[in-house]
Amino acid sequence: MKNLIIGGSSNLGDHIINSNSRNYDFTYFKNKKKNGIFFNLLDYKKNLINYKNYKTIILLSAISNPYICHENKEYSNKVNVEATIDLIKYISDQNVKLIFFSSEFIYDGKKGNYNEFDDPNPLNLYGDQKLQVENFIKKNVEKFSILRVAKTYTSKLNDSSFLSFIYSEILEKKKKEISIIDDEYFSPLNIIDLINTVNYLIDNDIDILNVGGPQKKSRLDCLKKFLEINNVSSVNIRLFQRKITKNSVIIPKDVSFNINKIRDILGNMITIDSFLKDIYKLDEKK
Ligand SMILES: NC(=O)c1ccc[n+]([C@@H]2O[C@H](COP(=O)([O-])OP(=O)(O)OC[C@H]3O[C@@H](n4cnc5c(N)ncnc54)[C@H](OP(=O)(O)O)[C@@H]3O)[C@@H](O)[C@H]2O)c1
Repeated sequence: MKNLIIGGSSNLGDHIINSNSRNYDFTYFKNKKKNGIFFNLLDYKKNLINYKNYKTIILLSAISNPYICHENKEYSNKVNVEATIDLIKYISDQNVKLIFFSSEFIYDGKKGNYNEFDDPNPLNLYGDQKLQVENFIKKNVEKFSILRVAKTYTSKLNDSSFLSFIYSEILEKKKKEISIIDDEYFSPLNIIDLINTVNYLIDNDIDILNVGGPQKKSRLDCLKKFLEINNVSSVNIRLFQRKITKNSVIIPKDVSFNINKIRDILGNMITIDSFLKDIYKLDEKK
């Protein structure tokens, strides 16, 4: 049986589909994708999808940028909470398994090393929206997996990830100065480990998983490693701190994950340090 990715035009969805690890149908909204199905969360009943045809529905569609959620509260609530919950009700009534992509931002970042039993306490609207959907699923859906996904990086270095920013500033634009936040910690996750996780969850029932990479890092750590591996010493690093004022988006300080549960499933996972060495090799070949 096929699986359906709702939000196949997302950054993560594109990688999952291109991995060819499974037989996927997929949707897009504004960014048309060849062979995809047009799908608008805000009008989903008009989308003629027969959910019963699928083994698993993987729900990626969302306003995924916390700053855009903050600036467009009403619209992001509609998409990320109301329409998402409506769709989930509809899917679960048809007894199809759901995999929902939640986020590290459901935690307040005060302690770090979060495992699946730690209490969520989101500090920003995006995290709060993800948590509302999680709570709905836990109460109302029978067959589900909730994936709390850490910041994910890929080898496609022209997307909107934290690593692409560093790559573009240093190696492409050859900037001599870079500004970077130094008080935000997370567990950078390689897309290959995320794809393997999704594959596993299609065949196995696990309710909640915190999926991050094996190293806790700050943006500054990643930058320093990147500079070291690429032998760049001439860059001036300007450090700044997360904004924590009431009217700005609050980014939690330390949302690193305890990954014991996912590591038991996947075995060895990819570290960002080893991945950065590979980028260096890729760059040498150019
Ligand atoms: N990237 C990460 O590191 C990360 C970390 C934690 C959690 N997540 C979660 O993982 C999922 C994918 O993340 P991403 O960064 O890959 O997302 P993304 O690139 O921002 O893509 C968002 C997706 O949502 C779709 N979408 C937006 N509004 C829609 C609507 N009204 N109806 C239907 N679809 C709509 C977009 O379709 P179009 O582009 O076609 O308009 C696109 O496919 C999200 O749920 C995100 O919250 C991501």
